[in-house]
Amino acid sequence: MQTLTIAFVAGARPNFPKIAPMLAALRAYPQVTPLLVHTGQHYDPELSSMFFEDLGISEPDWMLGVGSGSHAQQTAAVMVEFERRCLEQTPDAIVVVGDVNSTVACALVGAKLHIPVVHVEAGLRSGDRTMPEEVNRLVTDTLADLLYTHCYEGDDNLRAEGVADERIHMVGNVMIDSLMKVRDRAEAPDLDPEWIIERGFGLITLHRPALVDNEASLRPILAALGRISESIPLIYPVHPRTLARMKSFGILEEDAEPPLALPGTRVLLTAPIRYLQFLWLMDRARLVVTDSGGIQEETTVLGVPCLTVRENTERAVTCREGTNRLLGVDPAVVEAAAAEVLRAPMPDLDQVPPLWDGNAGERIAEHLVGWLNAKKEAPAG
Ligand code: UD1
Repeated sequence: MQTLTIAFVAGARPNFPKIAPMLAALRAYPQVTPLLVHTGQHYDPELSSMFFEDLGISEPDWMLGVGSGSHAQQTAAVMVEFERRCLEQTPDAIVVVGDVNSTVACALVGAKLHIPVVHVEAGLRSGDRTMPEEVNRLVTDTLADLLYTHCYEGDDNLRAEGVADERIHMVGNVMIDSLMKVRDRAEAPDLDPEWIIERGFGLITLHRPALVDNEASLRPILAALGRISESIPLIYPVHPRTLARMKSFGILEEDAEPPLALPGTRVLLTAPIRYLQFLWLMDRARLVVTDSGGIQEETTVLGVPCLTVRENTERAVTCREGTNRLLGVDPAVVEAAAAEVLRAPMPDLDQVPPLWDGNAGERIAEHLVGWLNAKKEAPAG
């Protein structure tokens, strides 16, 4: 039997629930040594180490510690440090997930060092190259040797770009594996109980640069949230980037510290919330308003109405086969859609996309080990 060392790269908050199920599934393969790489793109405990605790992931083997910076600085810093480590100890494969800067940086290093690169959550396309994540997806998919998709649309997108069928494998959604595994262990966050009545609150996550970095788009959307909160209280865990913008635009005082209500509203701004507690909130919310990628998928599986405040989505499958509605960024449209959701009964949880069943990690582990063994046994040249 061949021994295999496989590097798993995680850098930012949404990556951790994606790698955990693969690491767990690989315990059934004693010939495989997983090498956990944390790039340090996210470093605040609520965005990083607490996810490790909640998902039962062990300490990283390689901690690259790159931190924040411009896109070029951050991507380059990950590349330099990851390349250095790979030259010291060369893994048999590099598995990258999602679409963050750490994903593309490590895919580039692997491709240049001729280490097989595997992309999990491949083939998603928003068609919007002004989104940094779209650029990261395009480059990563071009470089990866193996492309694990989570919906058939991902396969279609890749084929349309000329990717050969043998590189594409639809395996289902690893992030949903994590959700299903920890749903029963989810716990209430430490917030005033009067805010968190079951189905009696809305949950907000808005953090994309296109929305929050611009006062002209952030102020009107916050005003719309304020008006929605006249009907239902809203809980808004705020990403550090968004908090900084709220302060610099004078929406919050310089020394404001969450939790606090957005002035004049029933919108409760909180610090970022760890995975187990965020899941608890999502599972009990009456509606979710978001610009995140993963949350569009999680709400679909939980059967919670999701209003996506973006002009496009790479996850159209959640609109067709789930609870998501793509609204655009007009605050009046968001307000009207929220009112409509609040008038309607909770949707029936009657469908989720194929293979979003909690077993994607196992499918990947089995396929990947077979693929790498075959590669090692194949005659060179
Ligand atoms: C990144 C991902 C985005 C994902 C998001 C999830 C890219 C291009 N973007 O965006 O796709 O939806 O993570 O959370 O990779 N900061 C902290 N503490 C941290 C990390 C960041 O305060 O632990 C602040 C810093 O001011 C930093 C800013 O947040 O400059 C942005 O962080 P960055 O990692 O560049 O991107 P995100 O906005 O977090």
